[in-house]
Amino acid sequence: MRILVTGITGQVGSALVPRLAPFGTVIAADRTLIDLTKPDEIAGRLDEIKPDVIVNPAAYTAVDKAEDEREAAFLVNATAPAAMARWAADKRVPLLHFSTDYVFDGSGTTPWKETDAPAPLSVYGASKLAGERAIREVGGPHLIARTSWVYAPVGANFFRTIMRLAKEREELRIVADQFGAPTSASIIAEAIAAMFAAPGGVLQMIGRSGGLVHLAASNVTSWHGFATAIIEGLRARGVALKTSRVLPIATSEYPVKAQRPLNSRLDLTNLSQTLGISTPDWSIGLKTAIEEVYANSGERNG
Ligand SMILES: NC(=O)c1ccc[n+]([C@@H]2O[C@H](COP(=O)([O-])OP(=O)(O)OC[C@H]3O[C@@H](n4cnc5c(N)ncnc54)[C@H](OP(=O)(O)O)[C@@H]3O)[C@@H](O)[C@H]2O)c1
Repeated sequence: MRILVTGITGQVGSALVPRLAPFGTVIAADRTLIDLTKPDEIAGRLDEIKPDVIVNPAAYTAVDKAEDEREAAFLVNATAPAAMARWAADKRVPLLHFSTDYVFDGSGTTPWKETDAPAPLSVYGASKLAGERAIREVGGPHLIARTSWVYAPVGANFFRTIMRLAKEREELRIVADQFGAPTSASIIAEAIAAMFAAPGGVLQMIGRSGGLVHLAASNVTSWHGFATAIIEGLRARGVALKTSRVLPIATSEYPVKAQRPLNSRLDLTNLSQTLGISTPDWSIGLKTAIEEVYANSGERNG
């Protein structure tokens, strides 16, 4: 089986490549192989690659920048996935695509189900929702996994920012009124690998899921809770840190260009009960990520 993985320089793409290797030949595509800013070229590229399954974590993910780059965000997050979906539908090739908690408006405190109505607050969220809808409209075999608050031991993300700031600053002020599940790219990759490993494989999972599934770590916290846990995890490992206070602040005290949902909780019932895949608590994912940072970089404690 030829498995095409896009976005391999990204958090999820780079975690997927090694985890999907046991299931076939992985064609690891960066933007030089598949450029999502050129949707017209995608079908030709796919004709050459001839994948049996497409896994597409590549995306325009710069949430604040997207407010000023609407066209670019929609091109990469909606027009390009639509082109991919058309090729895949024509060849009956399953397409696994990723989306986001930012398709919701964040109202209330109840975890969002797949059946809840999306209402994005940001251009990024709207572009990802347009991608979801385009793939669904094409109507080929597809599964869209919505995830949340992704981080990895590499790349630019909240986890890495806090690791750095904790060594530089006495005091951190972190948003405490947005709630969601910090989800390590490893947890996402393990869940996707479990879909490949299931009897009947990806096609069976697509049939059972109805094409849309919420996929995140279990349980939730706030960004403040996440930052506090990162710092505690580093301290437990003996890392010398400067931060002595992590102060909770409101979203309104940390102005950014794009509005974020306050409630990013995703209901994982479909994932666990329909697909039989359970994900670990977010704090377990964090523990593993901290171990990976020190194992991979050879960075010394302190
Ligand atoms: N990050 C989050 O917190 C978060 C939360 C919820 C959902 N998601 C979704 O989860 C999926 C994976 O996100 P991630 O965190 O792994 O993203 P990421 O780390 O930002 O990686 C994005 C990947 O997409 C590639 N890419 C961007 N523009 C491209 C283009 N024009 N052509 C080809 N490739 C392009 C990037 O390549 P370059 O390195 O060359 O730029 C990179 O490999 C995405 O669908 C995202 O929307 C992410």
